[in-house]
Amino acid sequence: MDTGPQTPKGPKRILSGVQPTGKLHLGNYFGAVKQHIALQDEAECFYFIANYHALTTIQSARTLADNPRDVALDYLALGLDPNKATFFRQSDVPEVTELAWIFSTITNMGLLERAVSYKEKVEKGIEASVGLFTYPLLMAADILIYRSHVVPVGKDQVQHIEMTQDIAGKFNRAYGDIFPIPDFRLDKEAKVPGTDGQKMSKSYGNTIEIFAEGKSLEKTVMGIKTDSTPLGQPLDPDKCNVFALHGLFTTAEEKAALAADYRAGRIGYGQAKKLLKARIDTFFGPAREKRKQLAQDLAYVEDVLRQGAKRARAEAEKTMELVREAVGLLPRPVG
Ligand code: ADP
Ligand code: TRP
Repeated sequence: MDTGPQTPKGPKRILSGVQPTGKLHLGNYFGAVKQHIALQDEAECFYFIANYHALTTIQSARTLADNPRDVALDYLALGLDPNKATFFRQSDVPEVTELAWIFSTITNMGLLERAVSYKEKVEKGIEASVGLFTYPLLMAADILIYRSHVVPVGKDQVQHIEMTQDIAGKFNRAYGDIFPIPDFRLDKEAKVPGTDGQKMSKSYGNTIEIFAEGKSLEKTVMGIKTDSTPLGQPLDPDKCNVFALHGLFTTAEEKAALAADYRAGRIGYGQAKKLLKARIDTFFGPAREKRKQLAQDLAYVEDVLRQGAKRARAEAEKTMELVREAVGLLPRPVG
């Protein structure tokens, strides 16, 4: 694990959010979800489904209302334990938008103008709305309203955490020490390649979905881009996406053995792909079964999110009491 700057001493609170914008893929799992789930055994964790953030790109009420349930099913199937982690929908704690507003009054335009993610999204054709521009403020509020210490994320989110550090520091200097300065935490699989060799991402259409199976998964895996070296010729594992993806599922020894097969021309791309599909099936098989079972009991899933929101909201309220008092939004006692 790669870690950001030092955190304050004391019990650690971990928080992360995931946007309900589509089907989870290997990049999401190895870049984010896997570490979220592992951390629930190490510290107090808050995980939420960022549906307010998703409003910056989804303008279909039905999609925005339905997608969070899919994310919840995914996380629960992959091992999130609601008895260990507090798991909820962002919009069930509306206080977070109040805090984002307060942060907007202390944040310099210049800070937001430097956001790479905003520029990239606008370049991709997403509308340059005020909400998209102030997205990092809501994210800072997400993190700080629960007074979180550590935020596990993929590399693309690091700048947002650094902005959160700036905002927390500025708030504390202006109004007193309310917020810990949070750190980011990167998993070692910071950049999972997609089927075309670029970073795997929904927006590039190059994903391998975790919950795809059978023919559909086979089609995706067999479609991974490779060069046209004929069968029986040596292959360079370091230049092969299929090999890189194997690395997500193999031990060091298995990886070395596969690399030797590549170099000796003992394996062709087709066989390497079949082997990869089998590894994906074995790895995610149990989660797929669990997801099917959970999908039969959506009332349970909704209950998990509601209970989580109750716990989260109680924490958020405590912070907001301090914040409202600090900035002067509460009437001062008379006399
Ligand atoms: P996408 O790029 O598919 O839209 P998101 O932006 O929703 O994915 O990412 C959700 C989480 O998964 C983030 O923490 C992000 O950093 C991580 N993530 C996404 N794609 C990858 C990838 N290819 N490699 C590593 N982590 C990734
Ligand atoms: N912006 C994050 C993403 O796209 C999702 C997110 C929203 C988040 N609020 C957060 C992540 C707070 C960590 C902490 O992946």
